[in-house]
Amino acid sequence: MPMRVAVCASGGGSNLGALLDAFPPGSDAEIVLVISDRRGTGALDRARDRGVAAVVLERPSSGEEWNALLAAHGAELVVLAGYLKLVPAEVIARWTGRIINVHPALLPAFGGPGMYGMNVHRAVLESGARESGASVHLVTEEYDRGAVLAQARVPVEPDDTPERLASRVLEAEHRLLPAVVRAAARAGRPVPLSQPVENS
Ligand code: GRF
Repeated sequence: MPMRVAVCASGGGSNLGALLDAFPPGSDAEIVLVISDRRGTGALDRARDRGVAAVVLERPSSGEEWNALLAAHGAELVVLAGYLKLVPAEVIARWTGRIINVHPALLPAFGGPGMYGMNVHRAVLESGARESGASVHLVTEEYDRGAVLAQARVPVEPDDTPERLASRVLEAEHRLLPAVVRAAARAGRPVPLSQPVENS
């Protein structure tokens, strides 16, 4: 039986797209639910295009609503893929060890409150770091502090802009996140990746 995966996204949902491509019917995992805190997002459109249940939370801060929805769809793994609102503590408590997030930097560097979207890439460039990348980690109540399961590294180029770095990191996310979900599906729970994810 495929692992039943719920994906939470607030924006365009390119990571969701990578997951939908990586897990066609009959593969290790099945995306059974897409949750968003906003209407009209690309992520919701991508889900509906593939016939996946797409739900806008009425009250994103209500743990009860989240947990009821996840239970109703029989989710076994929750993936935060560009979900920008705070996930209620009751959800994290209920899903500890089975909820993961993709972050666009090499944690523990460039994580924590305020480190999202372009802020991350600007901070990386301002620091003079020579490389950045993507991390997938377990979600705990502390922002970006749960155990890192896998990382993919990308170089910082001398003439980089935050936008160029962001798009290079996003490509790495699209390889890393499906690899972590595949490993989770095979192990029955999220596990550290034993093999590094190759750059294309
Ligand atoms: C990604 O960079 C992810 O790491 C961050 O938000 C972005 C979401 O992109 N948390 P998308 O919606 O998957 O295209």
